[in-house]
Amino acid sequence: MDQAAELRVPPERMKSAPNPGQQIRVVSVTSGKGGVGKTNIVVNLAYALAMRGKRVMVLDADVGLANVDILLGLNPQYTIQHLLNGEKGLTDILVKGPGGILILPASSGIQELAELTREQRIHLLSAFETMDRKIDILVIDTGAGISSNVMYFNVAAHEIIVVVSPEPTSITDAYALMKVMSLRYAEHHFNLLVNGAKDNIDADKVFEKLSMVAERFLNISISYLGYIPYDNHVKKAVKQQKIVMERYPEATVSRSFHVLAEKFLKTSVPITSNRGNIKFFWRQLFKRDDLEKR
Ligand SMILES: Nc1ncnc2c1ncn2[C@@H]1O[C@H](COP(=O)(O)OP(=O)(O)OP(=O)(O)O)[C@@H](O)[C@H]1O
Ligand SMILES: [Mg+2]
Repeated sequence: MDQAAELRVPPERMKSAPNPGQQIRVVSVTSGKGGVGKTNIVVNLAYALAMRGKRVMVLDADVGLANVDILLGLNPQYTIQHLLNGEKGLTDILVKGPGGILILPASSGIQELAELTREQRIHLLSAFETMDRKIDILVIDTGAGISSNVMYFNVAAHEIIVVVSPEPTSITDAYALMKVMSLRYAEHHFNLLVNGAKDNIDADKVFEKLSMVAERFLNISISYLGYIPYDNHVKKAVKQQKIVMERYPEATVSRSFHVLAEKFLKTSVPITSNRGNIKFFWRQLFKRDDLEKR
């Protein structure tokens, strides 16, 4: 029996469905420790969602070097910086990735978002206004750690996926991240995704360990999104600058991304009407000055 068969998406569902409510789901993918697999998760989750008819945009908000575009072997000419300078429009800087996902290569301009003039903010907001009807889900690769840049994106998102690997340092750093998010930014709910686990028992242990201490010592709740197994196909795909789901669709890890996407779509988040538009998201980001004072 071909186990992957039931996970394959029928072709009729590959077509983009309209987004009548114009509500965008904004999810940030973050981690305490670096190198735990965020960028791989962002692009594969985005791809799996696109295969289910969702129109997905990926925002690369990581100022580090291992960027989304490199992982995908894309060579974007422009970044958000060109948009902010007024040199280019949003459609000029967006890059199409596998499965038709849209990538906003923001990384090199991301730190400037803190110092935008009023004019630049309005410019950015109006550029994104047109996107409200064109995307269903925005997935953000935040980079690792507890820097304010990472925090701002997490706060502005509707939901936060904390990626953790089974290594003890990754677990303690995930705890530290959730602690800062809850104490300084009043975030009390997190979704946990274990990456690089041997099997479900290995992954469950990580979730139990973390949720037990976090729920006891921090005033937060953690939902378990499941796990992505350790699989050498990921490294092979990275070397070829392809995403594993596209290059090795039958690999165990690719099947896990389908399961993750299904689970993600099943968990609905209550989004109040104005929170669901993308302008709201950027406005939240601009409020970073207020956040600093919290
Ligand atoms: N499930 C997995 N199985 C095997 N290798 C993996 C898996 N997930 C990620 N990797 C490997 O781990 C490395 C780091 O992955 P990735 O760049 O996605 O991490 P990251 O959290 O985005 O890192 P950074 O914090 O530097 O941005 C990559 O070389 C990738 O091949
Ligand atoms: Mg990364």
